[in-house]
Amino acid sequence: MRIAIIGTGNIGGRLARGWAAAGHTIRLGSRDPAGEKVREIVAANPDRISAHSLAAAAESAEVVAIAVHPPVLREVCEALGEPGDRILIDTMNTMFRKPGEHATTAAALKAWTGSERVVKILNNTGAENVERPQYGGAPIDTFYCADDSEAGRVAAGLAEDLGFRAWDTGGLENAELLEAFAALWVTLAIKQGHGRDIAFKLLSRSEA
Ligand SMILES: NC(=O)c1ccc[n+]([C@@H]2O[C@H](COP(=O)([O-])OP(=O)(O)OC[C@H]3O[C@@H](n4cnc5c(N)ncnc54)[C@H](OP(=O)(O)O)[C@@H]3O)[C@@H](O)[C@H]2O)c1
Repeated sequence: MRIAIIGTGNIGGRLARGWAAAGHTIRLGSRDPAGEKVREIVAANPDRISAHSLAAAAESAEVVAIAVHPPVLREVCEALGEPGDRILIDTMNTMFRKPGEHATTAAALKAWTGSERVVKILNNTGAENVERPQYGGAPIDTFYCADDSEAGRVAAGLAEDLGFRAWDTGGLENAELLEAFAALWVTLAIKQGHGRDIAFKLLSRSEA
């Protein structure tokens, strides 16, 4: 798929490398597409990753994954322009600052773009796990929510391409549940000192 990734930091860079390795075409959207940080990401897979302004990255993309901090999200939505029927993937968390008056980044993204195809996914674990989502050969879990079930399935497939297992939690009203998972991961990894090599796994008796 043609995937635009907005934000080239801890999450954006890893999503770019992972999806490019899985065969997707990545258009990075950056404020500084010629900068050193962005050039390093492109250099990891120049056949599949290219760098652009935010609007140019999104223009021909089927999916736009957004990995910025909530305080700049409104500005990013304005820079992206009309979402059309692109799927918007929200990997963000509001742990430290809420996006304006909205409780979650998913709600903000939906309100500020007018898109019904917002999917929240891949927010519940550390960036290192986005790069290496397998523990002892087993996939770790991400949970997603979306009002548009087809958009949700596409995003779930993209998470699986990275090596995750993806669980559908229902509509976008469940975004707060998914953000709570991220807060729990941070509490365990950092505040409780378990370190960043931890991840969530949901067990199913039918698969045991
Ligand atoms: N780090 C984690 O372990 C982790 C895990 C799960 C979820 N998350 C969530 O993912 C999101 C990104 O986190 P991160 O750790 O990847 O952050 P980060 O490393 O600080 O990267 C954020 C990126 O946002 C872009 N950016 C900043 N200001 C911008 C603006 N005004 N307009 C457009 N782009 C702007 C920058 O890319 P350019 O300089 O190229 O424009 C920057 O690299 C956050 O919401 C966070 O809560 C993070």
